[in-house]
Parts: sequence; C-alpha cells; structure tokens
Amino acid sequence: MSDSDHRNSLTIIDNRTGKSYELPIENGTIRSMDLRKIKESEDDFGLLGYDPAFLNTCSCKSTITFIDGDKGILRYRGYPIEQLAEKSSFLETAYLLIKGELPDKERLAVWTYNIRHHTMTHANLTKFMDGFRYDAHPMGILVGTVGALSTFYPDAKNVGQEESRKLQVRRLIGKMPTLAAMSFRHSLGFPYVLPDNDLSYAGNFLSMMFRMTERSYKPNPVLEHALDVLFILHADHEQNCSTNAVRSVSSSMVDPYSAIAAGCAALYGPLHGGANEAVIHMLKQIGSVDKIPEFIRSVKSGEGRLMGFGHRVYKNYDPRARIIKKIAFDVFEETGRNPLLDIAIELERIALEDDYFIGRKLYPNVDFYSGLIYQAMGFPTEMFPVLFAIGRVPGWLAQWIEHVKDPEQKIARPRQIYLGEECRHYVPLDDRPRRGDDEQKFGICRL
Ligand code: ACO
Repeated sequence: MSDSDHRNSLTIIDNRTGKSYELPIENGTIRSMDLRKIKESEDDFGLLGYDPAFLNTCSCKSTITFIDGDKGILRYRGYPIEQLAEKSSFLETAYLLIKGELPDKERLAVWTYNIRHHTMTHANLTKFMDGFRYDAHPMGILVGTVGALSTFYPDAKNVGQEESRKLQVRRLIGKMPTLAAMSFRHSLGFPYVLPDNDLSYAGNFLSMMFRMTERSYKPNPVLEHALDVLFILHADHEQNCSTNAVRSVSSSMVDPYSAIAAGCAALYGPLHGGANEAVIHMLKQIGSVDKIPEFIRSVKSGEGRLMGFGHRVYKNYDPRARIIKKIAFDVFEETGRNPLLDIAIELERIALEDDYFIGRKLYPNVDFYSGLIYQAMGFPTEMFPVLFAIGRVPGWLAQWIEHVKDPEQKIARPRQIYLGEECRHYVPLDDRPRRGDDEQKFGICRL
C-alpha cells in the first residue's frame, strides 16, 4: 500500500485473534462488507455492523440533495433552497430534482404541459374513493389510492425501461393533487372538482380543493405562490424515513405507485409528516402570550416537547423554517392574522434565548410555521401531511430513479442480531402447559 492509500484507510486490530486489517476509506465511509473479512475462525460468518434506525449508515450514493445540518444548508442538485424558493417554481424544481439540471424554456414548457395533461384520474378511481368512510383520514385515503394507481397502469411494472419511468413520473406528479383534493372533498361530501389545466400546479390544486359554484375559479395569487413555495421546500430531504421506505420497497423492482404509496404510509406517522399538526395543538394549548414562560418551564422540566423545534440533522436554524416564516407574513396579510402567530413568534424568541434550547442546539424546524399557514389558507389539520406528500413526490421519484439505475443496489435486505431461542423441539398441543397454574410453573408470560 502507498502512503496515500494508508492515509485513506482504517486499521482495525481484532483483539479476539490479534489480527490486523486495513479497510479502505472512501467518501468518509468504510464498506460494511469489508468488515466480513474480520473473522474469529474460518467458519465464522464475519463481523457485522449494528445500527438500528440507520443512525450512522449510508444506504446509497446520491447526487440529488445535500444537507449540512450544522451549518443549516439545504441544496437540491447543488442549488441553495433559498434561491429555488425565491426564483423557481415547484414544477421547475421537480424537473431539476428528477433530471438533474434546470430546464431551458422549451423543456420547461413541454414538462409543464406533460404534467398538466396527466391530472385526470380513471373514473373507476372515483368509485374506489367513494368506498372510504366519510370520516376516513385523507392520508389513509392517499396511501390507498396511490397504491391503487398501479392497477390502472400495469405498464408501470417495466421499471427498467426509461420511457415507462418517464410516463409514471408525469402521471404521479400530475395526479397527486387530484387524489389529495378528492380525499378532502370526500370527507365533506362535496362533489369532486375536475382539474383545470389552465391554472398553475398550485392554483389547480386550490381549485380542486375549494371551488364551489363559481363558473371559473381564480386562486388568490398570494396563496397560490405561498403554496408553490411550500411544495418546493418539501420537495426532497435526502434519506429520511419516507424516502428510505420508497427506496427500500422499490429495490424489489415493484412499480413506482406501490413504492410511493409506501412513502406516503411512512409520512403518515406523527414523527414524520404529522409534527406541524402537533404545533397547532401546542399553540392552542398555550392559549396566550402570557402563558409562554410557564409552558417553557414545563418543557424544560421534561413534561413535553416544544413541537416544531429540534431536528435529527439540523443543529442550526432549519433553512426551510426561515423561508416559511417570511411567507407566513405574506399569507396573513391576505387572510388576516392567525392569532396563534403571536404566540409562535414570542415562543420562538424566548426559546432561542434560553440556555436549555441553545445548549441542545434546538432551533425551529420546517413544521414550526407551516401549519399556521396551512390553517390560514383553510386546510384542516388532517390535510397537512397530504400537502407534505404532494410536495415530496418529485423527491421520492428522483430517488426511485436513482435507485433503480444504480448498479451497486440490490434488493434491500438488512441483517439482524438473533437473540431468540436455540433450536428446540415441537411440543404437541396436548402436552403444552395450559393457562393458570401451569403458566406460573413453566414461567410463561402471555401478552
Ligand atoms: N423540545 C424540548 N426538548 C427537546 C426537543 C424539543 N422539541 N427536541 C429535543 N429535545 C431535547 C431532548 O429532550 C434531549 O435532551 P436531553 O439531552 O436532556 O435528554 C435533547 O434535546 C436531544 O434530543 P433527541 O430526542 O435525542 O434528538 P433527536 O435528534 O433524536 O430528535 C426530533 C429529533 C425528533 C425532531 C426532536 O427534536 C423532537 O421531538 N422535536 C419535536 C417534534 C418535531 O418538531 N418534529 C418535526 C421534525 S422535522 C420533520 O420531520 C419534517
């Protein structure tokens, strides 16, 4: 090995055997498969890594999204999120994420046309939607209907064919707002609104959500723009829980509708897509600005968390939160000030000056202000994760394409540490201990 190879390597001494191993370091990582060489004996399986929740494991190489959590940096394909939020549109950002470059005028026009002409859904999907109960959670409806799309497009299973992938990308980005709006209107018992392809992506979504008897629906331009920016901010966030679900499921080479349905299911969970709803509940619970010090005291004494604060990756201000806070003021000028905003602003101010939050590097995250905006726009809280899902679809799709094209990827299949019983012999039913005395005698615990 040369000197520079030595510098880019890790020497491990296995104290069980005294043997030394040299593992190459590439991109700041070692390959877990290199650990397999480290064996106690010839028939030993080899050393494995144990990493529940992937806290320190890279599952892929990616060129899509870069995050520096300490510095509060987020970039899509190298472009800072601040510039995209200010200058781009959601559909252009979706193009960037999926194709890797910003489009020229002609490409953007064709892309926009293609997405807009995939906004309708098959009439049978409406019947499928009607089968949900009136109070079904819209996110549950979304999981079901996105998955059901695979039955309408059996050609989608050709995941190795580029043309097929392109078509499914257009369909999925085009149809997400339609399914999302249908899930909302279903809960109210309102008739579904057909897509209006003369409107922008966000404008058409607002129309399908809120149009009543108007002959033509004109979205409020401030709200339309705010929603478009919110979609941009949610469009990708590298290997988070839902993206990992999409990648893991699509590693079986299943169609993208099934994989994106898995992403929606992951996003449904309160630890992922549901935190902005929790922020609204928290602000309502605080009730007024003068109750904030008492609330902060309760958080510091471990009686709950300051929702919308803290992040696994960001140990600095989440750059998306800064942009969202600015949009909130634009939206409230149109809709009237959400009374919860005053509580949020004061809560943020006090928390950012408090040693508890400073010491733990807890800053506002994307969810701190987004719920307030959605609420002011007229979205019920159950729709918050659905809005997140619409924005995240281009990111999931970009990650899906990258995954299926990556020659290093195989079907995702983690290992485990087995801590269960050794081999034991089957006991016939009549010979097994029964409930009651026998259980105590045999020390059996039933759940
Ligand atoms: N309020 C009060 N204390 C907090 C908070 C919070 N929001 N977040 C973390 N802490 C404290 C913890 O109690 C812990 O303190 P300790 O060291 O004294 O025990 C310390 O900060 C570290 O917290 P962890 O839970 O280890 O941090 P982790 O990275 O695992 O959690 C998480 C990140 C889940 C986002 C957490 O900060 C949290 O629960 N925040 C509130 C919920 C929220 O806003 N989620 C949205 C995240 S953004 C997104 O998913 C789109």
